[in-house]
Amino acid sequence: MAKIHAAVTGIHAWVPEYILTNKELEKMVDTTDEWITSRTGIKERHILRGVEQGTSVLGTQAVNGLLEKTGTKPEEIDMLICATVTPDMQFPATANIISHNCGIKNAFSFDMNAACSGLLYAIVTASKYIESGTHKKVIVVGADKMSSIVDYTDRSTCIIFGDGAGALLMEPVQDELGVMDAIMYSDGSGMPHLHQKAGGSSKPASHQTVDAREHFIYQEGQAVFKFAVTKMADVAVEIMKKNQLSSEDVAWLVPHQANLRIIEATAKRMGLEREKVMINIERYGNTTSSTIPLCLWEWEKQLRKGDNVILAAFGGGFTWGAVYLKWAYDPK
Ligand code: UT7
Repeated sequence: MAKIHAAVTGIHAWVPEYILTNKELEKMVDTTDEWITSRTGIKERHILRGVEQGTSVLGTQAVNGLLEKTGTKPEEIDMLICATVTPDMQFPATANIISHNCGIKNAFSFDMNAACSGLLYAIVTASKYIESGTHKKVIVVGADKMSSIVDYTDRSTCIIFGDGAGALLMEPVQDELGVMDAIMYSDGSGMPHLHQKAGGSSKPASHQTVDAREHFIYQEGQAVFKFAVTKMADVAVEIMKKNQLSSEDVAWLVPHQANLRIIEATAKRMGLEREKVMINIERYGNTTSSTIPLCLWEWEKQLRKGDNVILAAFGGGFTWGAVYLKWAYDPK
């Protein structure tokens, strides 16, 4: 019997309306548009505003749009994985809330926390269920309301992050399409360099933790940069070599959008020219688990059936990895 492959068969994304520009940030912290653009490549990011509007709001929009676009009934979905580091609540899982909001009643839904690599971890997990034959229609949604954990008095982090969500439909295919290979890594020794200090079980929320601003992202930018720029490029090159792919064979690199300099270094190591690299960091910033689906969504019309696509990410944990996809459909 032919091996079942797990393929992405649809994609949709959603960002909130409000745009926070570099000019606006200049009024909030001691920074300049020039510094942000030259160090990160970011010009603006979308922010979800309003009271009690959590990550599920973003994820619900992306998933509802995906169901509509692909003509899929919510009852047909048998699994939903939400990659996020900004869940609505510690529990229940945001995936459960999104499924409920979207009328997805026949799925088992859970969250996956792998920070900026979350979408890749979720794709790999979903693909194993599909390849085993137990699950037929799986939604992987990356959703993060990063503005909920950004300290807008800290110029070294508040310029980076934005809010957004992107959802993929994954289904079994018999052809040599879909997820061909994946290489995933994690290394917990990276924790001191990138984390959120309080609000978890080791340091529950208290007046002191709030006063000490410990519920926000803590990042040692340079240390993370050094790891990210090396590991993301290493793993992207590793997956190319493992699958005997030359730079000519690769149609697209879809990199996590953390910093334009990291993306450019990865593309260079892979021997890819700029035209083959999906980059939209200037308009969305780093939306953590949503950067990769936001790219796929914007480039969907340029993707062709059979295209060799490499997804690559690096994030908090540390976590990193690369997924090799053969794109499964032509533009509709
Ligand atoms: O997606 C998850 C993984 N995360 C990443 O991959 C992020 C990786 N790191 C980065 O992208 C970069 O390290 C940052 C964009 C966060 C920072 O860029 P950098 O080139 O590494 O800057 P730096 O932290 O070395 O800071 C250089 C200088 C410092 O001033 P002094 O000490 O040289 O006087 C900072 O205080 O730039 C200063 N600085 C700023 N200046 C203007 C830091 N943030 C700002 C700012 N505006 N927003």
